[in-house]
Amino acid sequence: MPGSTRDHYDRLAASYDENWAAHCEAFNGWMSERILARLDLRADDRVVDLGCGTGIFSHALATQVHEVVCADPSPNMLAQLPKASGALVPVQASAEDVASGRVRLPYDHVDAFLIKEALHHVPGRDAVIAGLAGLLAPAGRMLVVTLPTMVSYPLFRRALEVFAEHQPDPADIAEAMQAAGLAVEMTYETYRREFARDRYVAMVRDRHMSLLSEFDDAALENGVREIEREHPEEVLEFDDRFAFVLGRHP
Ligand SMILES: C[S@@+](CC[C@H](N)C(=O)[O-])C[C@H]1O[C@@H](n2cnc3c(N)ncnc32)[C@H](O)[C@@H]1O
Repeated sequence: MPGSTRDHYDRLAASYDENWAAHCEAFNGWMSERILARLDLRADDRVVDLGCGTGIFSHALATQVHEVVCADPSPNMLAQLPKASGALVPVQASAEDVASGRVRLPYDHVDAFLIKEALHHVPGRDAVIAGLAGLLAPAGRMLVVTLPTMVSYPLFRRALEVFAEHQPDPADIAEAMQAAGLAVEMTYETYRREFARDRYVAMVRDRHMSLLSEFDDAALENGVREIEREHPEEVLEFDDRFAFVLGRHP
């Protein structure tokens, strides 16, 4: 992965759960239910959470299977994986490493890959999807959870534009899975978010989304002022819409 992405997550690792886990328990429960309903896991399935980050959703997968391989290129994100449960097996690797066989997983075949909000970081996405599809066992599943190119976050205008420029279209991900021989289903679901404005602004200042690393301190402060001008309300409410792209090995 590019050094800038790696630096972003290595820096963010310590505050990632504070931004996304501690204050978003209801969201994490909502998202976990949707992931588990789609992956339809059996206890002895070989499961890989690719781009697992701090393991928020690996933990949900581990409620249904004996073991989850948690792969991520950022050592600092992996260091945040909950240690109490031996069910989470860390592997330092990018999706490209796994797809190309540069890094071997503990299994030759995989029953379920989860790739949640990580595929936008992956270079050579279509080839990586094809490589991962080649690792699926018969009836294996690959679930990509990703944001659409247009989001309705209360960010500043330039940040939303940069996001749209970089975010892959979920329809293209579905097409790449199909080209790799998987049967694909794509669905969208929306979660209503609520953040105290001060808390949201603090997250923006912490560059909680990787796209905010594209802005230097002065540009970010201008952006924060724009958010405060456009959103005088104390509580920010907005829709968080996700695409769930599920590919099944025939
Ligand atoms: C927004 S976080 C999502 C983490 C986790 N999946 C979640 O939903 O909580 C993106 C993660 O993708 C990882 N990542 C970046 N480049 C990657 C790559 N090329 N392959 C796999 N993961 C990557 C980052 O290190 C980071 O942990």
